[in-house]
Amino acid sequence: MLRDRLERDLERARARTCALTSVDDAELTQQHSPLMSPLVWDLAHIANQEERWLLREVAGHGSVRDGIDELYDAFLHPRAGRTALPLLGPDDARRYAEQVRDLSQKVLRSNNFDSELTRDGFVFSMIAQHEQQHDETMLATHQLRAGPPVLDAPEAPRETTRLERERVVIPAGEFEMGTSADPWALDNEKPAHRVHVPAFALDTVPVTNRQFTRFIEDGGYRRPDLWSVEGWGHRCEAGLEAPQFWHRDSDGLWWRRSFGREAPLHPDEPVVHVCFHEADAFARWAGARLPTEPEWEKAARWDPTTGRARRYPWGDDDPGPEHANLGQRHLGPAVVGAYPAGASPLGVHQLIGDVWEWTSSSFEPYPGFRAFPYREYSEVFFGGDFRVLRGGSFGTDQVACRGTFRNWDHPIRRQIFAGFRLAHDVSDSAEAPDV
Ligand code: AVJ
Ligand code: FE
Repeated sequence: MLRDRLERDLERARARTCALTSVDDAELTQQHSPLMSPLVWDLAHIANQEERWLLREVAGHGSVRDGIDELYDAFLHPRAGRTALPLLGPDDARRYAEQVRDLSQKVLRSNNFDSELTRDGFVFSMIAQHEQQHDETMLATHQLRAGPPVLDAPEAPRETTRLERERVVIPAGEFEMGTSADPWALDNEKPAHRVHVPAFALDTVPVTNRQFTRFIEDGGYRRPDLWSVEGWGHRCEAGLEAPQFWHRDSDGLWWRRSFGREAPLHPDEPVVHVCFHEADAFARWAGARLPTEPEWEKAARWDPTTGRARRYPWGDDDPGPEHANLGQRHLGPAVVGAYPAGASPLGVHQLIGDVWEWTSSSFEPYPGFRAFPYREYSEVFFGGDFRVLRGGSFGTDQVACRGTFRNWDHPIRRQIFAGFRLAHDVSDSAEAPDV
């Protein structure tokens, strides 16, 4: 059972990796953006990480290819310089990935899961999660690449339920944040700890393109009073005037480029490809703010009936296609209200899937954090210039997405599939849930 599940997670990741790297050799080796690696680097890095952990650490294998580790060490070479390295070519990288996978499948079948690394299959899941994280990164590279489309998928759901309310109050009180029980949680999600969250209100859906367009039309990008000092500095330096991939035609209509296709902006989709500073400025314009990380997680996991923290807003069941827009089934967010079955008990929709949501929190360790199994996954990023994002996007696989999962990026980044939702202060006397 456990082994079958892990094997399926690894296979799904590999199918995704293959789909994202089934392009001409020139496309694989080229630098599509200085912010991204060439796709062929991600491909061999995925295999190298799998080799290190599943073959060498777990099974004590010797090296599959000598002398390549340092080429695929993300800390030694910044993304912009990776095309200049003597990387494995496309065919070679594919062969390497297959070789490693053939061996790691055998390790998965024969290992008895009796070390700290392998208990409950942890390290196998970690490798599936790692591959899927790079698959989302490669999807972002595809969004940045110029030229005719190469990816295709059915349109995200267009049908929306009428939302009963725009915002809900999450009453003041403690909840259990993070997890000590989830065997596949990564180190930064642990341990579980109780957090008191004062009452606040949260929008039931993410901010939409329609709302964001109003901000632009109201001069949002030209009013320093709406931006933090740092945010305004960045807005000026980078010349920000609209979310990335938007442009306006001569009739004043907004269009959006998505994976090489131009389409009129859909007003009811969550806005995507905004940086933290744009989200923060919009929130100020709207008389609101971004949620903190504990607020976001409480809204996504706290069950008001039992007081327990759930794995997902809808409960503990694995995400199905009815719950959330995940896994690159669609190449964009669905309209707000498209996933009523995925709503939280208090009626907050689309916390999981569609777009990553910026929070106002910096990326910091939970009390009692322990780096595991390597410091470079999380620990080296704590205290840096990062903001936490929550909830996953249409590009995130379910193996790398849950109510406790933490993502982070620089506040100026917008090539990731990130949007946001608004939080609001309420008076602390608001005790009862607004249901
Ligand atoms: C968790 C998405 C910030 O891409 O930098 C991939 C994931 N870590 N390889 C990243 C990751 C190592 C990480 N994020
Ligand atoms: Fe990596």
